[in-house]
Amino acid sequence: MKIIKLNAIDSTNSFLKDLAKNSTLENFTVVATDNQTNGRGQQETTWQSKPFKNLTFSVFIRFKNLAIQHKKYLNFAISLAVFEVLSDEKLPKLFIKWPNDILSANKKICGILIENTFIGDRIKNTIVGIGLNVNQIDFSNAIKSVTSLKIETNKDYNLDFLLKKIISKIEEKVQLLNSEKFDDLEQGYLKFLFKKNTTTMFKDSNGNLFMGIISGISKDGKLQVTLEDDLIKEFGIKEISFA
Ligand code: BTN
Repeated sequence: MKIIKLNAIDSTNSFLKDLAKNSTLENFTVVATDNQTNGRGQQETTWQSKPFKNLTFSVFIRFKNLAIQHKKYLNFAISLAVFEVLSDEKLPKLFIKWPNDILSANKKICGILIENTFIGDRIKNTIVGIGLNVNQIDFSNAIKSVTSLKIETNKDYNLDFLLKKIISKIEEKVQLLNSEKFDDLEQGYLKFLFKKNTTTMFKDSNGNLFMGIISGISKDGKLQVTLEDDLIKEFGIKEISFA
C-alpha cells in the first residue's frame, strides 16, 4: 500500500480519480486527508466530516479480471472489510445496512462510495471512498442520525493506525474477490446485514409505506424483500428506503 496524505482536499475520491488517469498508478494507492472540504456521498449527497477528527480516504484498486456481473461482490468485500475492523472495537449493535452503510446502535458510523471504471464487460478499476466517524463527538449539524467510534466506546483512536488496519483488511478481502471466493463474501455480508429476516417498514420512491422482510440480495445487487403475500420483490437503491 502507498499512502498519499494531503493537508486538505475537496474530495479524496475526485483527487484519486484524477491520479487514476495515469495508467501506471500503483494498485492500492491510498489518498487520505484530515480535512476534506467537499466530500461526496452516494446519490449526489455530501459527506461532512469535522477536520482532524475522522477518517476520509480513498483506495485505488485495479482488477485483472472482474466481470461486471460480479460487481455486487466488490461491494460485499469492501463493506465486510470495514465491518470486521470495527467489530474488533466491540461497537454496540454493529450492522451493514444495504448496500454499504455501517451502523452502530442504529446510527450511521461509516459511509462508502464505490466508483467503478469499466472496459467492455469487465471492471477495470475502482475507487473506494470511505468516511468513518472516529473521534468526533459533536454532530449537532448533522441532518441524519449518526455516531462515531468515540461516542460508542468512550475511547480516543489513533487515525493512522485505524487507516492502515482498514486498508490491510480491504487488501485481504480483495484477494478473496480475485480468487473468486464469492460465496464466502456473500455469506459474510448477509450474516451482518441490518434487518435481515426481520419484519421492517419501508418506503418506496413514491413515499408509500409497506412492510416486508429482507431476504437477500439479487444477482445484480438489488435488495430482495419478501412482501406480505410472500411475493419477493427486488429494489434498486433509488427505489426503497427504511421508513
Ligand atoms: C455515503 O454514505 O453516501 C458515502 C460517503 C462516502 C464519503 C467518503 S469520504 C472519502 C471519500 N471522498 C469522498 O468525496 N467521498 C468518500
